[in-house]
Amino acid sequence: MRYLTILLAFAGVAIAAPLANAEPIKIKFSHVVAENTPKGQGALMFKRLAEERLGDKVIVEVYPSSQLFDDKKVMQAILLGDVQMAAPSLSKFNKFTKKLQVFDLPFLFDDIDAVDRFQNSPSGRALLDSMKGKGYKGLAYWHNGMKQLSANKPLRMPADASGLKFRIQQSDVLEAQFRALDANPQKMAFSEVYNALQTGVVDGQENTWSNIYSKKFFEVQKSFSETNHGVIDYLVVTNAKFWDGLPADIRTVLETALAEATQYANKIAREKAEGDRLKVVGSGVTEVLTLTKDELGAWRKAMAPVWKKFEDEIGKDVIDAALASNTTG
Ligand code: LMR
Repeated sequence: MRYLTILLAFAGVAIAAPLANAEPIKIKFSHVVAENTPKGQGALMFKRLAEERLGDKVIVEVYPSSQLFDDKKVMQAILLGDVQMAAPSLSKFNKFTKKLQVFDLPFLFDDIDAVDRFQNSPSGRALLDSMKGKGYKGLAYWHNGMKQLSANKPLRMPADASGLKFRIQQSDVLEAQFRALDANPQKMAFSEVYNALQTGVVDGQENTWSNIYSKKFFEVQKSFSETNHGVIDYLVVTNAKFWDGLPADIRTVLETALAEATQYANKIAREKAEGDRLKVVGSGVTEVLTLTKDELGAWRKAMAPVWKKFEDEIGKDVIDAALASNTTG
């Protein structure tokens, strides 16, 4: 009997111990860009705010530059619990929802302000939940910026892109966009782009000034055209079960930290869209072409068929709501 009492006492200690010294909740945040980018800085701000406010209850580990996973593998890692948060570009979700493809339609948004208005509209907010049945939860949109085209030759008119190989993100819309130009799109992970441009595996690419500068794409491209033809923004995404299963008080603090990190990332996105553009312009190693209204009109016209192709998948209501964001009303 005495032995039994001692055994039970030990068992009690063993069961009670994890509760008394509860392990911190670990959040691994994996992304593919450099730290000196809107997403890189936003992730670090989230870590700082969360850890400051939650003391030893939460640890946030941020892994930049594809150190842990590329954007294809990170989605699986989220489901497996190997990573708790990521922020792939909105172009990379079409395996899980067709609705987010709206963000890839060429020349849909006039500028980042229009993107912002759409993301904050009821239609845009609803898309955060568009992967509900797949185990993912969209927590926030983060900006990066408008995309620019580049190649190893000047691109003034759509015909200049004909026959060239362009690196694209994992997106069927972007594939169709380059096919509409009679070019050859190649889906490729972000971490491989610099080498692919340098070695001529591809001739060109499209990305934001921040990514073009921080990953040095400008050093391996002859010419950039300021097209602003599309957007690269992010969906901060998590495992729905993980997030909903967090203690409510902790989740609330994390949500506030994320909202503040979102403001911060978006502010940096605006600064970098201009600042990194100027750095590329002033680099002296490439050229940046400003296109005329007519030239831009020709690109818009050449890419226009893509809209119709994806209208059913995305939903006309979603496209119309996005279009409406171009006017402040
Ligand atoms: C890309 O693959 O070009 C971008 O999605 C990278 C990023 O996360 O900005």
